[in-house]
Amino acid sequence: MRLDLDDWEREALERLDPMAGDYYRSGARSEATLAENRAAFARVRLRHRVLVDVSQRSTATTLLGHRVPFPVVVAPTAFHKLAHPEGEAATARGTPTLFTLSTLSNTAIEEVVPAAGCPVLFQLYVYKDRGACRALVDRVVAAGAKAIVLTADAAILGMRKRDVRNRFRLPPGLAMPNVSGAQLGTAATDSALATWVRDSLDPSLGWRGLEWLAGIAGVPIVLKGVVRGDDARRAVEHGVAAVQVSNHGGRQLDGGIATLDALPDVAEAADGRCEVWLDGGVRSGTDVLKALARGANAVAVGRPALWGLTLGGAEGVSEVLELLRAELDEAMALAGCPDLASIDASLLA
Ligand code: FNR
Ligand code: LAC
Repeated sequence: MRLDLDDWEREALERLDPMAGDYYRSGARSEATLAENRAAFARVRLRHRVLVDVSQRSTATTLLGHRVPFPVVVAPTAFHKLAHPEGEAATARGTPTLFTLSTLSNTAIEEVVPAAGCPVLFQLYVYKDRGACRALVDRVVAAGAKAIVLTADAAILGMRKRDVRNRFRLPPGLAMPNVSGAQLGTAATDSALATWVRDSLDPSLGWRGLEWLAGIAGVPIVLKGVVRGDDARRAVEHGVAAVQVSNHGGRQLDGGIATLDALPDVAEAADGRCEVWLDGGVRSGTDVLKALARGANAVAVGRPALWGLTLGGAEGVSEVLELLRAELDEAMALAGCPDLASIDASLLA
């Protein structure tokens, strides 16, 4: 019986090929930040309200103008066909809220959008070749992506020890169809992904890169990877629709602040001028409640969707997200919160 997301994770890691399981679970270097994301949630304690009528409850909200039944988005993660033959199309089909497709997916956006049961956002890594990058942006918008999520915390790839030891690569037959001509099949001394990122992505991007993207995208932009108020303020000045507080699930700068601890500074800087999303270590309904109480409009989950996909394809993803919805609903009932608007900082001890 799978009663919580820890049960899903344990079973999924037993099922997965070790190279894939290692890729999914790893954090950068000592994995201090990976652990810290979870520890920050564990440190926070809640102060429930009593005698509130919670007989009628709603977890619904609006994100980027889309009505969603609960505020849990699927974060972009690479290579879903390592988990399940249907890959990203299944993950998108199992998502009832918003699904973010990674640039590094094993399934083309043109296949994912029609399969999805929800709006699809596209996560962008900006190539050194700006012409190719512009063509990709035009292509994904034409295919129906509702927003571009620009990932800003991965100028180079953080070093994940298991991936180096495993010489992480994609098995034959798995491609990256959003990235024309790319191969990830050989790795001499390192993770093949780290090598590809070094060769292909543009570490000189800068705020001018965001300006460039805003000028060509024609859809809302979410800036992902923000952990500071000054960066959030600047993002708002550049017209982003949302900032996503994220440290890439602890996979980039080891020693980085937990996202839950970074959230108040970012939420204060955003000051209602854009949406604030948070990812990193969200594993339960009370985690969602804590993030919302600290000022997030929504959270995103990365690995939990992969565990669902591994164990049950689209149905597994849907079960994982339904578990989070049900846990959030329960936490709201017990905290005295009939709706998301009643979740505020007074709930935090
Ligand atoms: C990621 N993440 C990520 N982010 C991104 O912008 N583009 C990507 O391709 C990927 N790929 C990726 C692969 C895997 C296996 C993981 C675990 C993560 C980061 C992801 O969007 C998100 O920030 C974290 O996964 C959130 O942390 P949790 O929910 O996994 O703890
Ligand atoms: C990762 C990249 C692909 O975290 O974002 O593995």
